[in-house]
Amino acid sequence: MKQLFLTLLLTLLPLGAAHAESADDIWITLAQPAWQLLKQSHPDLHSVSSRQVETGAEIKGKTSFDSVYLVQVSEPELENLTQLVHEQLHHCAGFFAFDSREAAMASLHASTRGINLTRPSYNIEYQSTIEPMLAAMAADNIRDTILGLTSFRNRYYNGQYGADAANWLADRWTALAATRSDVHVEKVFRGSDAMPSVVLTIDGLELAGQVVVLGAHLDSVNVVDRGVTPHQDSIAPGADDDASGVAGLTEILRQLMASDYQPQRTIKLMAYAGEEFGLYGSNYIATDYANRNVDVVGVLQLDMTNYQGSVSDIYLINDYTDTLQNEFLENLATTYLPSLSVAHTTCEYACSDHASWNQQGYAASFPFEAILTQSNPAIHSSGDTYAGSGNQAANALKFTRLGMAYVVELGELSGEHIYSDGFESKIGAP
Ligand code: BES
Ligand code: ZN
Repeated sequence: MKQLFLTLLLTLLPLGAAHAESADDIWITLAQPAWQLLKQSHPDLHSVSSRQVETGAEIKGKTSFDSVYLVQVSEPELENLTQLVHEQLHHCAGFFAFDSREAAMASLHASTRGINLTRPSYNIEYQSTIEPMLAAMAADNIRDTILGLTSFRNRYYNGQYGADAANWLADRWTALAATRSDVHVEKVFRGSDAMPSVVLTIDGLELAGQVVVLGAHLDSVNVVDRGVTPHQDSIAPGADDDASGVAGLTEILRQLMASDYQPQRTIKLMAYAGEEFGLYGSNYIATDYANRNVDVVGVLQLDMTNYQGSVSDIYLINDYTDTLQNEFLENLATTYLPSLSVAHTTCEYACSDHASWNQQGYAASFPFEAILTQSNPAIHSSGDTYAGSGNQAANALKFTRLGMAYVVELGELSGEHIYSDGFESKIGAP
């Protein structure tokens, strides 16, 4: 009820929520670090728009992006921010002030790179749909897919076993969706690579042009105990890295089909090829989507989910990911998986396929099994087996459920949709 009221309020007052507004308010655009400071001291403030802006810098040869937020503040709040930025970020200003919403929007808009991305409301409203789905998901199904994928000698992206594994997965996904004419499976080849990425699409009913991506990598590698054996003949089971993620996607698909779920937005499940050699499959796809201005509203990566190496259950990777979407994931976990603990950590480099999307300016997140130094020690070796993860898939089930909550909440059209270049905002029927 409270949620409904809030939605209504947001509908009627599109300029902001709890923050008490006055005509003297100032519109500011500010980068991520300053926005974080402001939010810490004024938690009731909300950004009404945001976008990714190229920094002009390069990290490891790739263009880097900053998020810039548009916020309405009062004069005292702005003074406080100036002080905070000065004290904690050790530089001046850190934001631009405007006297109207339009002027601020125009400024944000001026730095666009051509993609109009929808920023979802991140309201959590579909408990009655999602909770029964989560209850019906099972570790044994995840186990079966992990065992199926690890039964191939390897899933090297440019060899016969890798190609066979991709065909096996495409057949499995096709069979799971057999009764649905709105679900399609395709194989996406990058050049002459033997292994394709496997992409399943569930067409959106209402806004098919807005896409939610759930990804994992299908390929595996052995760089630890391969000896002189070439990659295409090596033993590389990749059970945790990353059959666990692909098995999670498969269990989500099974349950979506079992629940006859039809999303309002388009949902895509992607099992990428070539991650282990340079994020090949995801880069190929994310670049293509950006070139075609596809409105990907969110991306979630599942890579290594079946080994609990640290005290917390889920670690959200802070770098190469989107802060607002990470907050949403934290809220999803609190709502749907209240017994789990969520913490944050970093990879320090573009360590998985989320980075391909992040680099194209899309909102990506990456929930991971541990802090990096305590993650599964057997990866990239012949020892990364189901037995090596303790013959269980209960750990992967946690991430799989989080993925399900993510994909269904974003698959719906609740609340307010603010385009990241401003100018347009839409209210979907709850
Ligand atoms: N799953 C790993 C990345 C990983 C390993 C993250 C350990 C956190 C802890 C992934 O499959 C991988 O190995 N990625 C490559 C990326 C590179 C080829 C761009 C890596 O880390 O070397
Ligand atoms: Zn991996």
